[in-house]
Amino acid sequence: MLDVARHFLPIGEVRRLVEAMSLLRLNVLHLHLTDDQGWRFESKTWPRLTEVGAWRDETVVGRPGNYHDQTLHPENHLNSYDGVPHGGYYTQDELRELVAVARHRGVSVMPEIDMPGHMRPVRAAYPELGYEPAPLGVGRSWGVYPEVLRVDDVGLAFCTDILGEVLDVFDSPYVHIGGDECPVFEWEASPGAQAHSRALGLDGVTQLQHWFTSRIGSYLASRSRRPVGWDEIIDEGVPEGDPVVVAWRSWTEAATRATRAGLDVIQAPPLLYFDYAAGSGEDEPLAIGPGGTLADVYAYDPYAGIVDDSRLLGLQAQLWSEYIPTAQHLWYMAFPRLVAVADIGWYGADRPPYEEFLAGLPPRLEALRDLGIGHRPLS
Ligand code: ACM
Repeated sequence: MLDVARHFLPIGEVRRLVEAMSLLRLNVLHLHLTDDQGWRFESKTWPRLTEVGAWRDETVVGRPGNYHDQTLHPENHLNSYDGVPHGGYYTQDELRELVAVARHRGVSVMPEIDMPGHMRPVRAAYPELGYEPAPLGVGRSWGVYPEVLRVDDVGLAFCTDILGEVLDVFDSPYVHIGGDECPVFEWEASPGAQAHSRALGLDGVTQLQHWFTSRIGSYLASRSRRPVGWDEIIDEGVPEGDPVVVAWRSWTEAATRATRAGLDVIQAPPLLYFDYAAGSGEDEPLAIGPGGTLADVYAYDPYAGIVDDSRLLGLQAQLWSEYIPTAQHLWYMAFPRLVAVADIGWYGADRPPYEEFLAGLPPRLEALRDLGIGHRPLS
C-alpha cells in the first residue's frame, strides 16, 4: 500500500515502484488516493476535490506527537508549520495509463477512496458534505481529523459518484473503501446526524458507519466489484457486499474476528508498517517510530490469527507517507523489507532460512538500483 495523500508522489515514481514490484512479483498495488491532507484522484463531477482538496497551505514540521490520541484535534497543538504549499493529483488519463502499464507487468492496481473518515479535503472543497457545514481547510498536520462525511443520502450520492468514476479508471476486481479511524465526535454533537440515525431506527450515531458501509458495499457488488476495507468495517457487524478485511490494528485479533465471520483477509499488521523505521538506532531518519528490522519482517507468519487458512488472500506492507516526502526516502523505507514480504507471500513456510535469503539479496538489490531505486544499507 502506497499513501500518495500525505505526500504526493509524481506518477513517474509510482510507475517506477510498479517496475520494482514486478521484479519481486508483488502483484497488487493498493493506492491510497485520499486522506485528510490531500485528495489525489481527478473527479469530473466534483472538480473542487482537486481544485481545492489536492492542495494544503503548509505542512507540520517534525512529529506532532498526538497521532494516536483521537480526542486531540490535530491542529490544536503548539506545532510549527513550514509555510510551503504542498499538493498535486493524478488525472484520470494518467491513472488509466498506470493501470495499463501495471497490468502488462503483472501488477493489479487497487484504488482506495477512504470513507467516511479521513475526508477533510472533501469538507474543505464542499462544506455541504458535512452534516453541519463549516469552513475548513485541507489538513496541515498529521493525525486523525474529526471532521468526517455526512453519511445520509447526500453523502452516499457523493460517494457513488466518485466510485463510479473510479470504476471507469481502475479494472481491479477489488476496490478499497477505507473505513478506518472515523471518529464520531462530530456526529454525536450534530442534530442532523442524530436525526438521521433516529430515522433509520439505529441505536445511535455509532451505528451510522456500518449502515453507510453496507450501502457502499452493495453498490460495489451491483457493479461486480468486491469491497475491501480496514478492519473497523466489521466493528458493528459485517456490512453487505462480502467485504475483504485488511487486518491492521492488531497482530492477530482482527484476522481472527474476520475469518471467524467467514470473511477473506489481507494481513497488514504493525510489523508491516514500513513508515516505521527498519530498526531503532539513533541514525534512522525521522519516522513515525522505531519498527521491525529486515530479520523481524522475514520471520513474520501471515497465518497468525487466521482460523481458516483458505481465507487468507495475502499480506501487505504499508508505506504511509507522513514522514516520507520524497521518492528517494520512500525507497529507503521500502527496501529491502519489501523483498522479504514478497518471499513470504510466494514461499510461505517453505521459504529458505534467513541467512540464505540474505545471501541472495545483493543481486536483487542491484536489479532495483538499475531501476533507479535505492535501499537502506544491509548493515
Ligand atoms: C491505518 O493505518 N489507518 C489503516
